[in-house]
Amino acid sequence: MSQITAGHSVGARLASDETIRDAVSSITDRVEELSGEITDVRGPTDGASADYDALMARAAEVKGRGLLYPYIGSGLGNGALVELADGSVKWDMICGIGVHFFGHSHPELVRASVAGSMEDVAKHGNLQTGFEAYRFGEVLLELAQRNSRLKHAFITTSGAMANESAIKVCYQKNEPASRVLAFKHCFMGRSVTMCQIGDSAAGRDGIPLTTQVDYMPFWNDEAAELVGGKTKFIDHACWRLQQYIDRYPKMHACFIFELVQGEGGFNTAPREFFTSLMDICKANGIAVWDDEIQSFGRTGEMFAYETYDVGDYVDVFCVGKMTQACATLYTEEYNPRGGLLSGTFTGSGQDFAVGTRILELLRDGDYYGESGSIAKHHAAFREQVQGLKSRHPDWFPDAPFAGGDVAGAGVGGMMRFTPFGGDKAKVAAACKACFDEGVILFWCGHGPYHVRMLPPLGAMKLEDWPRVFECIERGLAKAAG
Ligand SMILES: Cc1ncc(COP(=O)(O)O)c(C=O)c1O
Repeated sequence: MSQITAGHSVGARLASDETIRDAVSSITDRVEELSGEITDVRGPTDGASADYDALMARAAEVKGRGLLYPYIGSGLGNGALVELADGSVKWDMICGIGVHFFGHSHPELVRASVAGSMEDVAKHGNLQTGFEAYRFGEVLLELAQRNSRLKHAFITTSGAMANESAIKVCYQKNEPASRVLAFKHCFMGRSVTMCQIGDSAAGRDGIPLTTQVDYMPFWNDEAAELVGGKTKFIDHACWRLQQYIDRYPKMHACFIFELVQGEGGFNTAPREFFTSLMDICKANGIAVWDDEIQSFGRTGEMFAYETYDVGDYVDVFCVGKMTQACATLYTEEYNPRGGLLSGTFTGSGQDFAVGTRILELLRDGDYYGESGSIAKHHAAFREQVQGLKSRHPDWFPDAPFAGGDVAGAGVGGMMRFTPFGGDKAKVAAACKACFDEGVILFWCGHGPYHVRMLPPLGAMKLEDWPRVFECIERGLAKAAG
């Protein structure tokens, strides 16, 4: 509910109504009480399996294919633990692919969600809206402006839509440039344009190719060694970029940077790799577009552009997932003309209330920096995988071009490890076996394949790590056997 208009309307009285505030507190307290009953991994409640199977079958019937994981949530969880509709409980180490940084049934977010659901309409739009979409935008911009030139935000409903808006902003500013530059392994979302840019053949299977994309190599430690070191690798990448620019003069509207690649395998690069390419973009009027839809909040600083100290370069920026509401941010220079960006929905009142609360919790917590809790969790994660490797060295053979330690890599809250040589079928089988053993993981990369973790670090305790890895060890043992 809007806290902005206090005093001017009956709606403002609704927002500050004591009876409603007490009711919201009662709901939050009761959710917390029930959530407290979820304390550990457990199997399905006796007799629940047949009903659960029926739910899975109905879901598959609706969708036209079976779900990848047999996951239907019960609507309750407790921190990093989530309950499924059959009463089973699992560690959620993937969180809807990075969405639930504060885990399940977080009291602050339940409160914000209930309070945010009481407006006259469930969803807001570009034509008619309450203020909460803009309050979310204000908080986001204030945080973004600490270390960038980003000035305005367009709020939307999904990461792919945020990226669609971003590419339109880049095209319009740099008209008639029609090409985009993107990295090998990048992922941008599922819309017709974004799936063409994403470096995955399956993701654009059957889709006509209408977007002109020039692919650049991404950083890889082993490849850099092979070509004679960091400087040589970067010089080569710059040479490749210049070749594209010379081949298609003034035809590139933007270069899309995922500073830490998500679907592509949690790959990242030294700062100089990014800045050398960004310098060339700047010299040629090519927009530097930073897609942080998966990495925002997780890389050790709030924004990945802060972690890599490239905020001054960024012209266009996208965020989503953990912020619940999604947004495209741009500098004054890239502010598009009226008419380019709009759409029926900006999102629901709950998206904005919860999204704003999440930004505040991230801002006011102790998550970031070298001694922040994300760094501590990352160290605890690596310790666990190293332990696993020392007990089971045969599960961790070399994986060529893994670009990091097979027994623990990634950045901050984007964690990965690479068992079984990064073999696709074995890694997928390991994730599925781990699911059965009580921990939800996913994979990433295009070969080698990695086990991916996007844990709810806003809710997780350091003591949880050994308990999580007990389940992982059982799952990997099954997959290895
Ligand atoms: C880097 C990146 N960009 C864009 C998207 C698309 O976001 P959404 O699935 O919300 O459309 C994703 C989703 O995984 C992503 O990881």
